[in-house]
Amino acid sequence: MTLAVVVERIHAERARRHLLRLGLLDKGRRIIVKGNVVEIPVVEAPASMPVPFTLAEQASPQYASPPLSFDQLKRELCRRIGEKAQLLRGGWELIGDVLIINLPEELYPLRHEIGEFLLSFHPRARSVVARRGISEELRYPEAEVIAGESNTTTLHKEHGCVFKLDPCRVMFSAGNMEERKRMAQLPARDEVVLDMFAGVGQLSIPLAKHTSPRKVLAIEKRPETYEFLKENIKLNRLDSIMQAKLGDCLEVAPTDFANRVLMGYFFSPQRFLPKALEALKGGEGVIHYHTLVAKEALDKEGEALVERIAELGYKAKIAQRRIIKSYAPKRWHAVYDVVVG
Ligand SMILES: C[S@@+](CC[C@H](N)C(=O)[O-])C[C@H]1O[C@@H](n2cnc3c(N)ncnc32)[C@H](O)[C@@H]1O
Repeated sequence: MTLAVVVERIHAERARRHLLRLGLLDKGRRIIVKGNVVEIPVVEAPASMPVPFTLAEQASPQYASPPLSFDQLKRELCRRIGEKAQLLRGGWELIGDVLIINLPEELYPLRHEIGEFLLSFHPRARSVVARRGISEELRYPEAEVIAGESNTTTLHKEHGCVFKLDPCRVMFSAGNMEERKRMAQLPARDEVVLDMFAGVGQLSIPLAKHTSPRKVLAIEKRPETYEFLKENIKLNRLDSIMQAKLGDCLEVAPTDFANRVLMGYFFSPQRFLPKALEALKGGEGVIHYHTLVAKEALDKEGEALVERIAELGYKAKIAQRRIIKSYAPKRWHAVYDVVVG
C-alpha cells in the first residue's frame, strides 16, 4: 500500500510532525512536493489531522530505501545463502520495531545469518525474531531473537492505539488486525463491556478508545500479559473507563454485568459460554464468540452455537459471522456476533 496524506505546502511541516508523533509516518518512502501540495507517506490513515488534508494512493512513490516485499527479500536471500531460502514461508510481521518470521527447522542452523540480513534490509526493524509456535492455553510464543537488540519490548501503533508488548513473551497476531479495527467501529456507546480473554488489550483497547463505552472490564489470566494490559490502559489514557483484572475468567468474571462480551480465545470456547451468558446484564446483549471451524461448516457451527445457547436457557441469533484468518490446513479462526435475548 502506498497511502499518503496530502496537504497544502504551508501545512506540511505541522502535518509531518503530527504523523511522526502518532507513529504513522512511513519512513520507507520520501515526502514528495508537487507544486503547492505535499504528499506525506503514511503507514495507515490517521483518524484526524490538525490541518486540512486528503488521503490518496501515491501514483509514483519514491522509496527512501529499496521497496520491500517478502518475495524480493527471499530472492536476495537466495543469492546469499542459496536456494534453501525458498523454504521461508508465510511472510513477516512487524510488531512495533520487531520483525518476526516463521523459521522452518531446516533453516535453523542459518538463523543468525538470515536474521542479520533481514535486519540490514528492513528500514524499521530493530530486532529480528524467529517464531516456532505458540503454546495453546496461555498463548505463550516460542521465539528467539536471531539478530539485533535482545530486548524486544516494543510499542506497536495501530488504529490510533498504542500497545506495549514483548512479542517474544505474549501473543499479538498480525492476522487479527482487521478484527482489532472492527472493535473500534462497534456500536458500543454507553455500553458496559467485558473482555474475558484480554491479552494485552488487543480487542478491548480499540473498542474502549473509539466507541465511547461507559465501562470496560478486561480479564487476563497470565500475570506477565496482565502487566502489559495494565500499562496499555494507562498509555492509551483509558484509566477512567477501563479496568484490568488478573485471573481465570471462569472464576473472576462478574455476573449480570455487561451489554457486550468479547470471547477472543478459540480453544474450546464452548467451555466458557455459560460464563459469558451469565455475565450479560439481564441475560441480554451481544457476545463476540471466537472459534476454530472448517470453512464449509461455518453455517452449521453458527446453528449449533444458537442451539447450545438455547440449551443453556437463552434465546439467540447470529447477527454476523466473519473469518478472521486461516489457522491450520482447513481450519479457520472465525468470530460469530451473537445477539442474546
Ligand atoms: C489468544 S490471546 C487473545 C487476545 C485477544 N483477545 C485477541 O483476540 O487478540 C488469549 C488470551 O487469553 C488468556 N487466557 C486464556 N485462558 C484464560 C482464562 N481462562 N481466563 C482469562 N484469560 C485467559 C491468555 O493468557 C491470552 O493472553
